[in-house]
Amino acid sequence: MKPKLLEIKGLKTYFQTEEGVVPAVDGVDIVVYEGETVGIVGESGCGKSVTSLTTMRLTPGKVVAGSISFQERDLLALSDEEMRKVRGNEMAMIFQEPMTSLNPVFTIGQQIGEAIEIHMQYSKQQARARAIDMLKLVGIPRAEQIVDEYPHQLSGGMRQRVMIAMAMSCNPKLLIADEPTTALDVTIQAQILDLMRELKEKHNTAIMMITHDLGVVAEMCDRVIVMYAGKVVEEADVVTLFTNPKHPYTQGLMKSIPRLNGTDERLYSIKGSVPIPGTLRKGCTFAPRCEYATDICRQEIPELNEIEDNHSCRCWLYEAKGEQA
Ligand SMILES: Nc1ncnc2c1ncn2[C@@H]1O[C@H](COP(=O)(O)OP(=O)(O)OP(=O)(O)O)[C@@H](O)[C@H]1O
Ligand SMILES: [Mg+2]
Repeated sequence: MKPKLLEIKGLKTYFQTEEGVVPAVDGVDIVVYEGETVGIVGESGCGKSVTSLTTMRLTPGKVVAGSISFQERDLLALSDEEMRKVRGNEMAMIFQEPMTSLNPVFTIGQQIGEAIEIHMQYSKQQARARAIDMLKLVGIPRAEQIVDEYPHQLSGGMRQRVMIAMAMSCNPKLLIADEPTTALDVTIQAQILDLMRELKEKHNTAIMMITHDLGVVAEMCDRVIVMYAGKVVEEADVVTLFTNPKHPYTQGLMKSIPRLNGTDERLYSIKGSVPIPGTLRKGCTFAPRCEYATDICRQEIPELNEIEDNHSCRCWLYEAKGEQA
């Protein structure tokens, strides 16, 4: 077994709002091993971004329980200064909202260059040259000019690519990519995914890939974690998850993938919608939308159990491995 790089245990991140407490992340366990790509999937609002932002210690929410260990260091116990060193150096993130992470008053070159200078101990000149190389690598035309421009001078897709260049420029051990290619056209998307694969192969970078796109998951990921309403509901290697999904929610997600076989079957969608966090009091959070739900599902929250080797599921339909009759 490869060494553990990141281990999130029992994580709860809550928001205090005028309507009350929002348990956006509600007891999440995630392990990422060195050099592997882990997909995190689930409908909008299920807590994917809050989980990743909490890992980077960048969420405005409050961590009310749990631990995050990265390279055997407890991230939640680091000082802000120590955390800044981890961020962008050993751990980098591509954000879902690119504008929030680029500073409008600095040029592209200054922003990429600064990270490179600090983390790789390059001179200003070397850092600038590497910044230009990185911009070219992510498919930015006129890199020599763009390096001296400001974020607002670029289109959304370009900014996204700048952010990707920035995140990858220091060869992090862990790259957290939150919908990295959703805003980009397919050609650029393929290019960026290739680049991530290269990073993984060359530098043994682990990637936490958050995406709505199950095609990207199938193509990129070794393992997949399915989240629903702030909790992990299923986890398996990518082939198992696609061929033998167990949780009714995962089965629904799989059925909603468009097929290319030309059938005119209407695209399946899971009935109902993700509950607003904090509005569910009892039982499995998926029960109100689940066609298999029984009384126990409406009363008690199931545990995330390993139901077969390396395959875990949080559902009353299955018993933990070893407990089967
Ligand atoms: N700053 C905040 N204040 C209050 N609630 C928040 C805040 N940020 C996120 N939430 C809530 O936390 C829950 C999880 O949000 P999150 O952004 O993690 O979802 P997501 O899975 O990333 O969704 P998407 O696929 O749309 O990006 C949502 O109900 C959201 O409304
Ligand atoms: Mg998100």
